[in-house]
Amino acid sequence: MLQRLFILQPQTEDMVKKILIGLLVVLVMIQFIRPARNQSKAASPNDITAVYTLPDDVNQILQRSCNDCHSNYTDYPGYANIQPLGFWLQNHINEGKAELNFSEFGTYEKKKQAHKLEEVAEQVEAGEMPLGNYTAMHKEAKLSKEDAIILVNWAKGLQKQIEAQL
Ligand code: HEC
Repeated sequence: MLQRLFILQPQTEDMVKKILIGLLVVLVMIQFIRPARNQSKAASPNDITAVYTLPDDVNQILQRSCNDCHSNYTDYPGYANIQPLGFWLQNHINEGKAELNFSEFGTYEKKKQAHKLEEVAEQVEAGEMPLGNYTAMHKEAKLSKEDAIILVNWAKGLQKQIEAQL
């Protein structure tokens, strides 16, 4: 069959078959590798909601659109069990958390907190966050225009409030 499709020499066809079987075996094997889950059991005392009072709507937007990658509490989707999709998601979580972790926000120096909030406003205004390849699979995480305005105004406001204390 392969021979007809690609007009392959019989030896080449044999090799292609072996490579395909090899790939299939690898695909099956990687299903058994489970990256450690980003689901802290305890509430963090340094959570942004523990150190600042967040308006309910802001809190809800962060939970829905940002916290899967920017907190210690990821709500894993079903596809996280399918590799390599799970690795790909875990990689986003690790990178996102390294840049900005709302569960550890209280451990940042005030200057860094203010700067991160400035970044939040910038990233959201530019439409860079939440990541587009994530919202493609998580429609509920997409920011509406109103959500984006609420988030940006809050981030800028808290940034100013923190800067005033510096
Ligand atoms: C699917 C995971 C994911 C989601 C959801 C997500 N982010 Fe990110 N975020 C990342 C990754 C990965 C990075 C680092 C790489 C980059 O900048 O693209 C990042 C970087 C950032 C940065 C840059 C920090 C800095 O100092 O440069 C900000 C700010 C940010 N995200 C805010 C948000 C906000 C606000 C939301 C929700 C509206 C959000 N992110 C949703 C994965 C995510």
